[in-house]
Amino acid sequence: MKRLDVVVIGELNIDLVLWGVPLPEYEKEKLAEDMRFTMGSSSAITAHNLAALGTRVGFIGKIGADTFGDFMVKELSRAGVDTSGIVRDERVKTGATVVLANPPKKALLTYLGAMAYLSIDDINWDIVAQARHLHLGGFFLQPSIRNDVARVFARAREMGLTTSLDTNWDPEEQWGEDLLRALEFTDIFLPNEEEAMRIARAGTVKEALERLGERVPVVVIKQGAKGATLRAGNVRIFGPAFQVTPVETTGAGDSFNAGFLHSYLKGEPWDECLRFGNLCGAVAVTALGGTGAFADKEQLKARMESILGKR
Ligand SMILES: Nc1ncnc2c1ncn2[C@@H]1O[C@H](COP(=O)(O)OP(=O)(O)OP(=O)(O)O)[C@@H](O)[C@H]1O
Ligand SMILES: [Mg+2]
Repeated sequence: MKRLDVVVIGELNIDLVLWGVPLPEYEKEKLAEDMRFTMGSSSAITAHNLAALGTRVGFIGKIGADTFGDFMVKELSRAGVDTSGIVRDERVKTGATVVLANPPKKALLTYLGAMAYLSIDDINWDIVAQARHLHLGGFFLQPSIRNDVARVFARAREMGLTTSLDTNWDPEEQWGEDLLRALEFTDIFLPNEEEAMRIARAGTVKEALERLGERVPVVVIKQGAKGATLRAGNVRIFGPAFQVTPVETTGAGDSFNAGFLHSYLKGEPWDECLRFGNLCGAVAVTALGGTGAFADKEQLKARMESILGKR
């Protein structure tokens, strides 16, 4: 039997969130009303929340030999993620995002650091061999590996793994050729509405679903407070969102991925994968940060029950 259900390859960075902030100006000091220091990055949030749900997860990524890197490893380990595939490189610094939040608006400033240097050569294939499924997040934030994702996925498939991809937003808005190549070896593609339309060069979500569905066996388009739509071959299913009062939406998509993949790896049918993805997305928006609602297993259960009770 395989030791891991999922191996996640992806970005690792911390988030420093400053709340209630005026616009910064050069040569001036201004005050924020509140702050929070948390784990950021799509891949790390998905891995953390998968582990919180009881999935056996390993992580492959890159950090610097610094305090932020230590923090990321500690947070992932605490959730039960196997961090032995994380490469520590003394020549680089762990990535960081400063979030200036004035809800519902926020501005993000990211220093990619180590994330920019993760390459195909950093992958420990023994760890990949121990998993049933490979997920990659944050495609566009990883310039040294994005061009090789097609090769990584092809090799993983040869080793018997299935693959999934969540690109998230492309800061350059190019949605390049390397992504289209990666999609040829992707089993489950998990974009949000806006990303899906850009990648498919489509004017509507429906059109994007059809176009992407011709390339990838399973396409799941996340649609925020509306829910999500799936196409698997000729099957098309819309899963409505659960009703919650959102506190903060960071990591909703990454948490949806965790719920969807957790159900998929249990062998559940597509409608159940969608339902559980939507439930985890809804749970995520009820707390601060991408992992806030998943940090404590008892509280996670209580949050899920409270949402299910409302339906
Ligand atoms: N306000 C909300 N109420 C209920 N569920 C929500 C809400 N917002 C998001 N979700 C759930 O989370 C899922 C993912 O959200 P969204 O479509 O915003 O993903 P995303 O844009 O990829 O997010 P991220 O910012 O994490 O990348 C949705 O499909 C839905 O299930
Ligand atoms: Mg997303």
